[in-house]
Order: sequence, then structure tokens, then C-alpha cells
Amino acid sequence: MAQLWGGRFTKETDQLVYNFNASISFDKKFYRQDMEGSIAHVKMLGKQGILTGQETEALITAVKDLLDEIEAGTLEISHEYEDIHSFVEAALIERLGDTGKKLHTGRSRNDQVALDMRLYVRQEILETDELLEKMLNTILTIMKDHVDTFMPGFTHLQKAQPVTLAHHLGAYFEMMKRDRLRMQDIYRRMNYCPLGSGALAGTTYDLDRSYTAKLLGFDGPSLNSMDGVSDRDYLIEYLSALSTVMMHLSRFSEEVIIWNSNEYQFVEIDDAYSTGSSIMPQKKNPDIAELVRGKTGRVYGALMSLLTTMKGIPLAYNKDMQEDKELAFDAIDTVKGCLALFTGMLSTMKFQKDKMEASAKHGFTNATDAADYLVNHGVPFRDAHGIVGQIVLYCIGKNISIDDMSLEELKKISPVFEEDIFEAVSMKTCVEKRLTIGAPGQAAMRTVIALEEEYLSQDWKKELPDWEGELLK
Ligand code: ARG
Repeated sequence: MAQLWGGRFTKETDQLVYNFNASISFDKKFYRQDMEGSIAHVKMLGKQGILTGQETEALITAVKDLLDEIEAGTLEISHEYEDIHSFVEAALIERLGDTGKKLHTGRSRNDQVALDMRLYVRQEILETDELLEKMLNTILTIMKDHVDTFMPGFTHLQKAQPVTLAHHLGAYFEMMKRDRLRMQDIYRRMNYCPLGSGALAGTTYDLDRSYTAKLLGFDGPSLNSMDGVSDRDYLIEYLSALSTVMMHLSRFSEEVIIWNSNEYQFVEIDDAYSTGSSIMPQKKNPDIAELVRGKTGRVYGALMSLLTTMKGIPLAYNKDMQEDKELAFDAIDTVKGCLALFTGMLSTMKFQKDKMEASAKHGFTNATDAADYLVNHGVPFRDAHGIVGQIVLYCIGKNISIDDMSLEELKKISPVFEEDIFEAVSMKTCVEKRLTIGAPGQAAMRTVIALEEEYLSQDWKKELPDWEGELLK
């Protein structure tokens, strides 16, 4: 047990209390951010003349040494300290004596942890965005290859109308594009620096908060010190956005699982991304997709947990907020893992064009087009609907599809049909006639693909504030 705050206490903390209170086992995850924040703080103290030039240099060098040793594995973050902040400070005091003791001038662990968590999450947002971008690139590559791969589109999991694989995957492209937009949005909204908020009421030192904000790549300092230390909105927003990412991945996983089933066989998952059964030798299971679907609950859980933790907290800092870390870290790592694995699975998956096309052909997915044919020949839509209903019933009885009927058979049900009906209900026509933007027709799809390519060529990060990002180098 090593604490920063023994002064006003007359008794040692009970060991169980110490363990319950300590956070180092999980907040050591952001040791880099803690050190980066400390360097920015020290630089600012030096610039303001609160530390001498010598003290400033000594502290910065010592923090960098600490970092090097931790990363080289020669220094271990010891759990005998309460949290990562105490560990870093104690190490500096051990090395620099009184100079080390000056590090915490004008700072509280409350604004320190608020900063560390914010820096950590900000970096994770960029990494999530990058993984989403990779996934979008993978989806777009498949889309380009499959603008003419016909498959049934479903409603109620019943075959509805023919679409193409490009069109189907294009829906996921849109979802994940929105996921990325959410990342951007959160980044921009959260990018204000809480350092300098102190414990809750700022400090009496002449800190230059804009300077530290700039050193750390923020748009500026946060404007209320009580909010600065107790705001976790950005984390809630991020967990919410991650929950949406998982909801999308889970839906996609569900489709992959169905498509990979023996009944559908629309896709074959690569051996590298499937697993076997310990008893049934024939099995090749879509475990990755199932796990992604299954892990969604964990991420939702983290969001619910933090929302609940925050809902009863009066201003400003309260220890409840230490609970923002473990589940959030777990959720973030989970989503990143799922995105990486799903992208790998997708990019190696084989799409069985023939199976998809045959399935689209044998599910009356062209029934609406047969009705439209009648409408175009003057039959009111409701009557056309009834006529095609009879045709479907007839086909089910004979176990054939509409295209397999002869003109005589069709004419018996409605004399309006002529030879050109076969062209009108062919899969190619059904898809190719759907040419409005957003529809599966090839020309429309190609327009959309070009727009998506243009979107992927842009880099929103270019507009972020110039960040030295050099503090730890
Ligand atoms: N470990 C604490 C946390 O994660 C750091 C802040 C401690 N502040 C305090 N007033 N006890 O929230």
C-alpha cells in the first residue's frame, strides 16, 4: 500500500478497503496518456515560471525515462500503488526528490484522470474509425465484383424481390459509413481539454490552459471546471456508437450464419475463419460470426452500466466515476477485435453465385414484376395482384417457377400475357429495370459505388487541430 494522501490520517487503511478502492490493476492501461498529460502540464508550468527551467527539464526527462523503462519491460507498474497517477508521481519523487514533488502543482487527480481517460478514448475513436474504414474498403471491393450477382432480397426472411449481392452489401456499407460519422462527431464534440480544472474549482496558479490544450491536440480548454472533472458524456456517446457498430455487425453475422448454412449455401467461410466439431467430423461452423453476434451483449452492457453509474452523481467528482473504466476498456477491445475479425472473414469468404441466383429464381421473386407487366398492359393493379397470386399457386402445385410456364398456361389464367412476358420476368430484367438511385440496377449501383469510392478517398482527420503529438518522443 503506497498512498499520496496519508497526511491527515492516523491509521493505516484496511487492506480490503485498499483493494476495493484501488484502480491500478486497470487504469495502468493508460500509463502513456498519464505521462503525456504530465509532460504537457510540466511544460506549461515551466512556461508560466511556476517551475524553473531546470526543474521542467528534469521532470520531462524523468517521465520519458519512466516510459522507456516500462515499454522496455525493465520497470513494472507495481500494484502497491493506488492508481497509475500515484505510481508515476511516486516514481518521479523517488528519482528526483523535491523536484518530483512539484509535478502535481496546480493539478488534482480529478482533472488528471479526466484528461487521461479522454486522451485514451480519443485515440481509441481513431482506431475504431480506421477499422471501420478497412471494413468499408473490403465491402466495396466485394460490391464491385458482384453488381451482377443475383440473389433474393428478403422481407420476413421470405424471398421477396431479386437484388444483387452488391446491393445487399451496399446496405451494410451505408450502416458502417454512419458508424464512422458518429466517430467523427464524438471526436469533435469531446475534443476539449479538462486539465487545469483542478479538483473541481480550478486553481489559484496562473495556469495557461490553452497552452496545455494545444500541446495535447485539443481544440481548446473545457469551459467549466466542475463539468471538466465530472463529464463522461463522451464515453457514453462512444459506447453508444460502439453498441450501434455491434448491432450492425451482429445483423451481418446473422446473415453470414444463415447464408453459410447447409440449406442456403450462399457463402462458404474460409477454413481459416471456421472451426470444427469435436464429435461431428463433417462440421464446419461459423463460430466467428456467432461470437461477434454473441459479444454484442457485452458492449450494450457497458453502455447500460455507465449510464446507470452516472445518473445519480452530484457535481463534481465522485469515486463512482472510477467505474467508467473496466467495462469500457473491455467493450472497446471487444469491438475492435470483432471489427478486425469480421473484416478478415469477409475478405476471405467465397460467394456462391450459382446458389444465390438459383435461390432467387425459385422463390417467385419476380411475382411483383409479373403483376407490373399486367398493369403496363392496362390491368388494374389489384386485379393483376390476384392473377399473379393464381399463377403462384399453380406453380407451387407443379413445383415450377413462373419462367417455366408456357405461354398457353399463362394465357389460360390471363389472356393479356404475350411472348414478351418471359423477358419481363427474367431475373436480369427484374433487377435491371430498378434504376433509380439506391436501387439494385447495375447502372444505379455503379453510380453509388463511384460515390462511395469518392467518400473513402476523403480523410476527415486532416481537419483536426495540428497536434504536436511529440510530447512522448
Ligand atoms: N482512480 C481514480 C479514478 O479513476 C482517480 C481519481 C481519484 N480522485 C479522487 N478524488 N479520489 O477516478
